[in-house]
Amino acid sequence: MGTPALEVKELKTHFFTKRGVVKAVDGVSFSIEEGETLGIVGESGCGKSITCLSILRLVPKPAGRIVSGEIIMGGENLLSKTEKEMRRVRGKQISMILQEPMTSLNPVFTIGNQVAEPIKLHQNLDRKSVWEKVKEMLSLVKIPSPEVRMREYPHQMSGGMRQRIVGAMTLSCQPQLLIADEPTTALDVTIQAQFLKLLKEIQRDSKLSMIVVTHDFGIVARVCDRVVVMYAGKVVENAPIRDLFNNPKHPYTIALMESLPKMGKKLDRLYSIEGQPPDLREPPPGCLFAPRCPQAKEICRTELPVETVIGDGHTMRCWLT
Ligand SMILES: Nc1ncnc2c1ncn2[C@@H]1O[C@H](COP(=O)(O)OP(=O)(O)OP(=O)(O)O)[C@@H](O)[C@H]1O
Ligand SMILES: [Mg+2]
Repeated sequence: MGTPALEVKELKTHFFTKRGVVKAVDGVSFSIEEGETLGIVGESGCGKSITCLSILRLVPKPAGRIVSGEIIMGGENLLSKTEKEMRRVRGKQISMILQEPMTSLNPVFTIGNQVAEPIKLHQNLDRKSVWEKVKEMLSLVKIPSPEVRMREYPHQMSGGMRQRIVGAMTLSCQPQLLIADEPTTALDVTIQAQFLKLLKEIQRDSKLSMIVVTHDFGIVARVCDRVVVMYAGKVVENAPIRDLFNNPKHPYTIALMESLPKMGKKLDRLYSIEGQPPDLREPPPGCLFAPRCPQAKEICRTELPVETVIGDGHTMRCWLT
């Protein structure tokens, strides 16, 4: 294994609210290799999006603040960069796709103009080359007759096409890392799966690394190489994809996998594990999952488990090793 494309070390992102400090991300570490796809899974509110936004240094202000940790990319700590330097990192090195394509597209501009925007911003190209590039990007994401389609508007596209157009905008600057965050209100699962499959194909020909946030283990199985399972602001298990499915270890991971509806089914509730995640303002002592864990022992309720290596590239934070 070479140098990781991205390394997140002991990241803590907290929200300072009137009613207390919300420890949304509390000591998260993981790394991503070049060309690797990392999945982040976990119940709603466990800190997946805030982890992604922290990498881009786009934590909601003023309450949110990255309080400590390191985010290393290309030998540099993104947390010590100035805002101006970060603006170059965003879009150029790291791109994020919000999987709500309509909010990323402006209804009053043509598709072509919108795809051209980031290209003009980040690459020094003349007018003709910009349009060539727009066409190339639209073909890359399999938009039929790109010359025609680029003159049209977002409402003239299907949901899946809009999603791919946002993908084209994101990929046009050849980022090293692409972050795809799924909203809780699941977009049509089939569209999402198709889109991620397309990203996977594009990734095969480049060194692009990806972070995919999803609630769907079917998608995880199809596109991820490695998975980080988060619970209440912490990583509880980190495993290569095969280990995660063949040998899930953390009781939370097991509960999560068992509670999920199978691929393709319409979701009523995302997860149905007994009980609720803890209040992130006053988390319980010990393992944060202990109050809901069917196997919890005495120590689980009093001491925070340390991260232990349980296999090749497989770690977890649990006393029941
Ligand atoms: N602006 C804010 N002020 C206070 N707390 C916040 C704010 N934004 C997020 N949080 C808290 O941070 C925690 C992590 O939120 P995050 O959005 O990362 O969850 P998530 O894992 O992405 O969930 P989902 O699956 O629903 O998208 C949540 O408990 C949330 O309540
Ligand atoms: Mg989220």
